[in-house]
Formats: sequence, C-alpha cells, structure tokens
Amino acid sequence: MKNIQKVYIETYGCQMNLSDSEIVVSILSEGGYGRTEDINSADIIFVNTCSIRENAEERVRKRLQFFRSLRKKKPELVIGLLGCMADRTRAALMDEEKLLDLVAGPDAYRDLPQLLSQVGSGQKAINTILSADETYADITPVRLDANHVSAFISIMRGCENYCSYCVVPSTRGQERSRDAASVVNETRDLFEKGYREVTLLGQNVNSYEWKSGDETINFARLLERVAQVDPLMRVRFATSHPKDISDELLHTIARHTNLCKTIHLPVQSGSNRMLDLMNRKYTREQYMERIDAIRRIIPGCAISTDIIAGFCHETEQDHRDTLSLMEWVGYDYAYMFKYSERPQTLAADTLPDNVPGTVKEQRLREIIDLQQKLSYQSNRQDTGKTFEVLVEGVSKRAETRYYGRNSQNKVVVFPKTGSGPGSYVHVQVERFTSATLLGKVV
Ligand code: 5AD
Ligand code: SF4
Repeated sequence: MKNIQKVYIETYGCQMNLSDSEIVVSILSEGGYGRTEDINSADIIFVNTCSIRENAEERVRKRLQFFRSLRKKKPELVIGLLGCMADRTRAALMDEEKLLDLVAGPDAYRDLPQLLSQVGSGQKAINTILSADETYADITPVRLDANHVSAFISIMRGCENYCSYCVVPSTRGQERSRDAASVVNETRDLFEKGYREVTLLGQNVNSYEWKSGDETINFARLLERVAQVDPLMRVRFATSHPKDISDELLHTIARHTNLCKTIHLPVQSGSNRMLDLMNRKYTREQYMERIDAIRRIIPGCAISTDIIAGFCHETEQDHRDTLSLMEWVGYDYAYMFKYSERPQTLAADTLPDNVPGTVKEQRLREIIDLQQKLSYQSNRQDTGKTFEVLVEGVSKRAETRYYGRNSQNKVVVFPKTGSGPGSYVHVQVERFTSATLLGKVV
C-alpha cells in the first residue's frame, strides 16, 4: 500500500486565513492526504500567506528560506505557497528562486489535489485564478483550533470597498456571500460537537446578502438565525465597515444574549482629510454618530478598532485628530499599524508614501501608548463587576486556573472550578492587568 503523504500547513495573517487553512486541510483529507503538526515528518509543506503589510510578506519570505534548508536534507519535499501572496509573487518565487513547487490563490483550493498530482509527475503547478462565486459553502472545515470551544465560520469572501491603502480587493477578488442555510447548518454541527462559540468572518460582514427564493437575507437576519441555533452558542463577527453598520443590526445584537456585546469597528484615522484620501466613505462625525448609536442601543458593548499611522500626506494635526477620536471613543482594544504601501492599490498608484519612517514610528508609538491607557481604564471600570465567562482552557501561566472570555471579548482568569472548557461560569473581577481580568467564581 502506498504511504499516505503528510501535509504540514503554516498560516500567516488574519482569522480569514486561518479559516481558509481549515478548508484546505478538509479538501486535502478528502483527496487522501494526511496532516502533521511536525514539520520534520512532512512530505508537503504549505504556507498560507498574507499580503496586507510589507512585514507580513517579509516574514513569509524568511520562512521560505528555512524550508529551502529542509529540502536540502529531503529533496522530495514539496513546498507550496497558498493565499494572498500567490498571484503577485508566483513568477518570482517559482522561476527565480526555484523554491516553490506549487502556488494556489485563495479561490483555487479545490484544485489542490490535482495540482499536487501534477507536482508528483514532475511539473510545477499554479492556479491563481480568482472566482466570482467560490465560497467553499459545501466544505466542512477540519478545525485546527486547539480548544474545541470556539470556531471560525467564513460567511463571505473578497471585498469591493477599495479603501485606497488596501490590497485585499486585488488579492481576494470580488465580494460574494455564502449560502445562509450552509452557515446555519455549520453552526448547528459545531454545537452538536461541543463548540460553544462561533465567529462569523468576512472582510465587510455588513454587506452580506443571500437571496433564497423571494427572501433576501441580510447580515442582521443571518446573525439572528445563527443566534437561534442554541442560546448556549455564543456568536461573534468581524469585520464591520462603519459606513454600513445599521441600527437593525445593533437592535438584533441587543435582543439576543448569546450575540456577544462587542463590535470591531475599524476607524483607520480620526481626520476627515485622511478618511477621504483613504476612500473610507464616512466622516469623523458619521463615525461618532455610529458609536453613539452603539452606546444607546447596546449598553455595555465593547468597541475595538484598527488604526493606521502615517498614511499619505498625514500631518501632525491629522495625527492629533486620530488621538482625540480615540480618547472620545475610549476604545477597549485596538490593532495599530504604520502605513505600508502595497502594490496594486489606489494609494500606490495615485498618492506619495511621503510620511518619513521615523515620523510614522513616532506617531504609532503615541497611538499605542494612548491605547494602553484606554485599555487599562476600560479594565479598571470592570473591577467589581460579574461577567458570564465561557471557559476555554487552562491558563498558560498557572495550572490551577482556567481562562475564558466574557461577552465583551476580554480574557478572564480565575481558579479552576468543576466545570471545564465549554461551560459557562460567573466570575467577579477582583484585579486586572492591561490585558487580563482576574477574579473568582461566584
Ligand atoms: N498598511 C498598514 N495597515 C494596513 N491595513 C490594511 N492595509 C494596510 C496597509 N497598507 C490595516 C487596516 C485594516 C487591517 C486589517 O490592516 O487597519 O483594517
Ligand atoms: Fe492578509 Fe488581508 Fe489576505 Fe487576510 S485577506 S491574509 S489580512 S491580505
């Protein structure tokens, strides 16, 4: 009997990519391949890549050099590149560096068994064609998460917002939504397997739309159906675009206790001039109005964001506008980046990357320092409060403690109780650090 070939897969970038790796593993296991978590015993190495910032690509390139050293010891080792870097780098990586045997873009994963057999017969294999309708709706992902409590479900792919800094429309193509029934079924299946939390993923979940007969299911309706699978199944989602997060959605979140009270609403900048150059399609004032709506409709809702420092033409005043907006919102959490020019974006084609590196770094530093202060304040306000916490596992720092999350997505650590991962406990917060709430079960 032929030995089963084992695949090792490494993932870079966002949650969407993690979710894609789970689809890849599912397709490969259907195709007769095994999986390994030990790189040294792999016959095939896949790296699922991210292009969002220059440093993400650099990390992948370094890693590929390491794989090259593994192949020196094991010449039959197959090395493949998947995901967002596929299209833009395939020529360089396959021809010049002669390192890759296979390249597959985000919409080409069904083709992987065929591409691998092509490699098996001594050819290089490439498929980077983007699709208008691929959603992998019928594929049951093989969960790669460690805790078996919380899983990702991809509900749409691609993006057509064309924010001027962003490479995603070019790497992931047209926006398309996945069959609503398949999302609900996948949630139910996960619940039956013991999962207690799903995160619905898309580049802009607010523009989710699925037509079924005469009915049009928008994101608020989809979220409601997923929430109705079981009250014990928590539901989160990412990412929302501020220009189209509706009151209908906010009321839906308020109505269901298992729809988590946390919204990730990337602002990118607090300056109207920057927002316009970024092609974000909202103003600072409109963004603030949406924050007011969240506070009014969902009291106690956590709000997180993404911020870019040093975008094209950004002045000190624009930067101050970002800091003042951060203070005004009082974000619970933020992902903060310095601007990195990406090829095939509106900004790369039409705007100069003219904020010096040292200035970008300085502004990013100020943004991070302010966010640390805001996160600290947010955690301080939680002291004394009691939260329902979904237990995820044993704390890495102390065997005697569990960790989990509250509805607001904050990590909560507490002494072990009888009920383990997958159960809900009430924890009263006694202390906190900048990243964690600590408390006791009540
Ligand atoms: N440079 C820096 N940050 C970027 N992001 C997207 N593109 C870029 C870029 N070219 C950030 C945005 C986005 C998050 C996923 O990554 O803040 O919301
Ligand atoms: Fe990176 Fe964007 Fe691709 Fe996700 S979709 S892997 S963030 S480039």
